[in-house]
Amino acid sequence: MAIQRIGILTSGGDCAGLNPAIRAVVHRAVLGYGWQVIGIRNGTAGLLTRPIEWVALTPSETDIELLRRGGTILGSTNKGDPFAYPMPDGRVIDRSHEAIDGYNQLRLDALIVAGGDGSLHILRKLAQQGGIPLVAIPKTIDNDLGLTEVSIGHATALSAATNALDHLQPTAASHSRVMVLEVMGRDAGHIALSAGIAGGADVILIPEIPYSFASIAARIEALKARGRNFALVIVAEAVKRDPNDPAEDSGVIHGSIGHYIAARIGALTGAETRVTVLGHIQRGGTPNARDRIMASAFGVRAVDLIAAGRFDRMVAWSARTVEDVPILEAIRHYQAVDPQGALAHTARGLGICLGERDAA
Ligand code: F6P
Repeated sequence: MAIQRIGILTSGGDCAGLNPAIRAVVHRAVLGYGWQVIGIRNGTAGLLTRPIEWVALTPSETDIELLRRGGTILGSTNKGDPFAYPMPDGRVIDRSHEAIDGYNQLRLDALIVAGGDGSLHILRKLAQQGGIPLVAIPKTIDNDLGLTEVSIGHATALSAATNALDHLQPTAASHSRVMVLEVMGRDAGHIALSAGIAGGADVILIPEIPYSFASIAARIEALKARGRNFALVIVAEAVKRDPNDPAEDSGVIHGSIGHYIAARIGALTGAETRVTVLGHIQRGGTPNARDRIMASAFGVRAVDLIAAGRFDRMVAWSARTVEDVPILEAIRHYQAVDPQGALAHTARGLGICLGERDAA
């Protein structure tokens, strides 16, 4: 099949690096192959509206400035799965045929999606059902997608979390406080572990490693004993409260996991604590150099895959190069933090407390 016109959509939570990826796709497709590129707005939502929400993308419109811009110019959504679409009256219905019809109306020869595991699962199902030639670009600040060492957005999120620790340290030292920083990662602790190492955290809590308050309190007491007047704690949002904790039963501690951890540290050590929930600051902002490079390499390779007729593949970063892997395998190989991996080992080697029970 001779390719003439391709589509691109961004799906799931936005992140820094999506715009550089869009730019790379447009430049490669238009300048390299002479194709047209259609941007579909708001992820799969753009395929469900009538008229369909789309925009023609050209190299001049997606030139230099897009490299530096956070978010996605196409818009995105992490709601409204076309296979289980929530209707205003409370029903959940299958609108996948409408999304496929939307794709067909655009007369596209192939589709590129930038998404995380949830989005790729949905888009792949749509592609299988509708015979859509699909290529995927991995993006998630959480960096938990399998078969790629890194996904777009993670590096910038990591910089934001590390900067937050850089900002918290002087104020922690000035007021002799324990600062608790809660960072994103819906299910995985990659941001917390890496930023904790980069930002000099004393305690790093991630969902992949069970923690005990005895261990955390012992570390804070040990820091105090050697003359340190402050401590930095970083906790991934996916960390769970301790179900055996009496304070949990009484329901006295409200708020996020960061607030819970801080309250318990305060109660156990007498330390004054403060909590920062970093939130979407990790998702926004200017893409850093690493994300721009990844996004550019992924965008170019995604277009090359279409030119080569290689579909149902995801571009991936591995051993200093761009590869491509089956989308299904990437989704199947969820990438949690390895509790025995190099970074966990590094943290332990630096004397950082990972909250481990037997380390108390
Ligand atoms: O999966 C990416 C992510 O940023 C998670 O780290 C976070 O839990 C979630 O999305 C937040 O989603 P929302 O934009 O719906 O608040």
